This record gives sequence, C-alpha cells and structure tokens, in this order.
Amino acid sequence: MSDRVDFTPPQLLPAWAALSAHAARLARQPLSSLFANNPDRAHQLTLIFENPAELDQTALISDFSKQQLDEDVIKDLIRLAREANLGESIYRFFNGAQLNFTEKRAASHMSMRGGCPPPPGNGADTHAMRTFAFDLREGLLIGSTGKTIRHLVNLGIGGSDLGPRLAVEALGSSSDHFVCGIELPQVDFVANVDPLELNTVLAHADAAGTLFVVSSKSFSTPETLANAEAARQWLRSQLGNDADISAHFAAVSNASETAVAFGIRPDRVFPLPDWVGGRYSVWSAIGLPLLVAVGGMFDDFLAGGRIMDDHFRLTPFEQNLPVWLGLTGLWNSSFLNIQSVAALPYAHGLRSFPGWLQQLEMESNGKHTLRDGSHTEADTAPVVWGSAGTIGQHAFHQLLYQGTRRVALDFIIPVGDAGDPRQRILVDNAIAQAAALMAGRDLDAANASLSRHALPAAEIKRLAPHLVSKGNQPSTTIMLPRLDAFHLGALLALYEHKVFVQGWIWGINPFDQYGVEHGKEIARALASGKTNEQDASTAQLVRLAEEFRQKMR
Ligand code: F6P
Repeated sequence: MSDRVDFTPPQLLPAWAALSAHAARLARQPLSSLFANNPDRAHQLTLIFENPAELDQTALISDFSKQQLDEDVIKDLIRLAREANLGESIYRFFNGAQLNFTEKRAASHMSMRGGCPPPPGNGADTHAMRTFAFDLREGLLIGSTGKTIRHLVNLGIGGSDLGPRLAVEALGSSSDHFVCGIELPQVDFVANVDPLELNTVLAHADAAGTLFVVSSKSFSTPETLANAEAARQWLRSQLGNDADISAHFAAVSNASETAVAFGIRPDRVFPLPDWVGGRYSVWSAIGLPLLVAVGGMFDDFLAGGRIMDDHFRLTPFEQNLPVWLGLTGLWNSSFLNIQSVAALPYAHGLRSFPGWLQQLEMESNGKHTLRDGSHTEADTAPVVWGSAGTIGQHAFHQLLYQGTRRVALDFIIPVGDAGDPRQRILVDNAIAQAAALMAGRDLDAANASLSRHALPAAEIKRLAPHLVSKGNQPSTTIMLPRLDAFHLGALLALYEHKVFVQGWIWGINPFDQYGVEHGKEIARALASGKTNEQDASTAQLVRLAEEFRQKMR
C-alpha cells in the first residue's frame, strides 16, 4: 500500500475557517466563565476509557474541560479531522500503508504489541531477544571469567534510551526483586557522550558481571558508538586483553553486520525492523532492558498499548481519546497560538516522561514541510517541556501563575496507593494546580487573602497587586488508577496516536527526522578539521576549545 499525495493543506478545509472564527470568539473569554455558562461542562468534556478486557474497569479518564474550547469547537475540530480524512488514514496506518512516505516505509510499531499485523512479508521476531532477557534475569548468562552477569548497562540515545529508561523507572521498583531465588540484575542507562555519565555507572560496576547492550537502530550514532568503544576499553582494562569481551556485549539494531563487525556475537544482535521508528521503539527489542527489569510485566505493558490501539482504531471520533488529545493540542498550537506545552506527571516514576514526550512530539511533528513539499502556514508542534509534579510547583510554576506567557498543561495523575497519605498529597496537589492555574486570582481575591493575615490596610493595598495571577492556563487532566505496566502502556500509546492525529491533519510526516542530520554533518566536518567551511563564530569556538585543551594537556 503506498501513500497518495492527494493532499489539501488544512487551512483550505472548510472547518479551518470555522475554527478560526471560534478562536476569535473565545480568545478573550476567561476559562472559568466557560464553566459558568454550562453547568454540565466538566461531564461533557471528559472522556472515560474503559478497559475492554476487564468489565467496568476504568483504565483512563481524560478531562478536557479546562481547555479553552466549548462543544462547538469540539464539533468543528472533529469536522476538521473528517475533512482531512483522518479515519481513512488510521485505517491505512493500521494496515501497513507507507505513511512514512519520505523514507518509503510503513510505521507499524503497533504490530510489536499486537495492535496490527506487521507489513506483509516483513515480520519481527522477538523470540531470541526474549530468551536472552529471561536467561539474564534467571542468572544463566556468564561473563568471560565465569561469573554470572548481574548488571545490564544500556548504551543508547534518543529513542534507544528514552522509552526503556522511562519504563524501567516507572515499573522497575514494582517488580519482584528476586527471580529463581537470586536478585534481579541491576539495569542502568547511559545516553550522553559526556564521559561522566558512563564513568559514574562504571565506578560501581563489576566488569566480570556486567553486560553492555548497545542499543542503536542504525548502529551508526556517534555518541552510542563512542560509549560502546569506551565500555570495551574499560572491560579490557578490568579483565585483561585476553578476556573474551564479547561475553559482555549484546546489541539491539537492524544493522546486524555493523554490530557484528564491532565485535558483537551474531546470536546476540537482536533485530529491530525498519518499520519501527526510534521514538516508537520501546515496544520492540529496544525494550530489552525493560524486559530484564520487569519480566512478565512487559507483556502487560504491551497489552496496555494494544488496547489503546484498538480504542484508537475502532472508536468514533466523538469518544476517541487520542483523537481528542491530538485535536485539542492542534487547537492550542494552530488556533490559540499557544506554543508551549508542559507535561506534568504527578508521579516520581514518570519523571522521565517529559523527556520521552519531547522526542515523540518535537522530533515527530516539529516540521514545516507538508506532504506535497510545500511549506505549512499553520504552527505545528509546540515546545514541549515539564517535570514531575510536585517538583515543578517549587521551581517553575511561578511563571505559569504570574508570567506573561500562555502555556498549555498536561496533568497526568496516577491516583495510586490509598494507604499512604503522601500519595493523597500528591494527587490533591495536581488537581489543585490545574484549578488555580485556570481560575487565577483577581485583585478582590488577593485583598481577601491578605485580609486573613491581620495586616494594616495600607500594607494590604501595597501587596495585593503582587498576589494577582491571571490564570487562564488551559490544561488537560489524564487520570489513571495507578502506575502499572498496563496503564503505562496505554498512556504511551495514547500519546503516540495523538502525535499521529496531529501530523496527519497538519499534513507532515511524523515518522522521519531529516532536520537533525544537519547538525550531525557539521559535527563530522569539525571532527575532521574542516573549520574553514564554517562561519567565523563557529571557527573561533573550535579554535578556543582547542586552546583550552592545549592548556589542560
Ligand atoms: O538523531 C536522531 C535519532 O536518529 C533519533 O531519531 C533516534 O531515536 C536516535 O537518533 C538514536 O538513533 P539510533 O537508535 O540509530 O542510534
């Protein structure tokens, strides 16, 4: 199935003009007033996603009522999706069409979790990877000295790091710590080519029991290869030059010949099909560290993703969670000119979620070239950032309250353990922040708040303007019963499909990343000493860095 380029830029679709009119109508309306106008608003703008595998089990609730929109906007956003043929694109996406049209391949990562068939004649077998991971868990892998491998260090960057790192942080601590009577292997991640990251891990590592997994779809990413080489040198320095270093390496890559040429045993190179993009690859063999950390829970993670696939594929747009998440994000970016989105997961286990989401959204839809080669006139992906709640409340929320910028917020709240009062504090904080950042505080409320402190009237008058906050920060609140493998899988797949919805309607290809090649080319030129081709500032910086190096030698 190939992609057709019969494409109409979204601004030419009738619903776009209707949405522009809505934006003008709503732009000056305080968010809180939308609630005053419609007592049923919270209910009407909340979607509930039931887990079809377990009767009456709510898997995920998504409340869009704090977004700057109303039911008419939702209707026209859904009309926009229909006019852009989103339904047909979802069908083709799940049936292996080459929607990654620049690279002429399908984007079928859903197949890794059973959400769709693999592209014809091009399946992915994870059997060998799974056997390897379970052997490692169960203490059956032996290093060059005969010692059991109990430490896995993942060397990868971007999609070969962010997804598994996030999932291990989210789920690792809830997994059993012993299997077959022995302690589970320690799992670490090293992404940065800054020597400090690898050195920090190696400082506490026992070479004889350590395995490095070189995770690189291309097996050509300089940062990862430099770290793999440093790991090899370290192993030699610890185990001696005669040691069989290959006992301490495995790789996840679709460039198996290059991996073998590096020195990885052929039966330890676990493939990753070309139709799984790096930032969509946690479900594939790239998930090896996760499988080692959580064992059978990996299948629950896949099941969560698969159930979100079914929901996305089969549910009418009016009730479809990824469609709403995509459309409301598109509304903020392209119509309300809100170019900043903060992801605020209220869970320590999701502290790496903003980083994962950054790559997913910004590498996928941070683009301006449309399917027909023309330049978009709409604003596409926003700047995505964030941190785990409640940490941000004591750092950057000040700007959200009283700064000059509008920022759209995604609150993600796993409700969690009822027995621990701190968990309740966490959840209440998240809900309170969404409320306060929407409502803001006017001068009267600021005065009233200060009056409670028995201050002199002049002092109240002086301070009150500094307590005013404008509010009106739009947010979506996604609530899960708990952070387990199933719900994490559903959450990540939800965002993946959100990105698909937006990319399709904007008319861009979410599955390539040609932009990042430019910086890599210049880095290669600098490494080979070609500074004369660069601008004067760049050439000067290279020279100054070299001067520093000379002085430190
Ligand atoms: O440079 C960007 C990128 O290609 C990402 O898309 C990818 O996730 C990352 O680098 C790592 O790539 P690889 O897995 O091939 O090392």
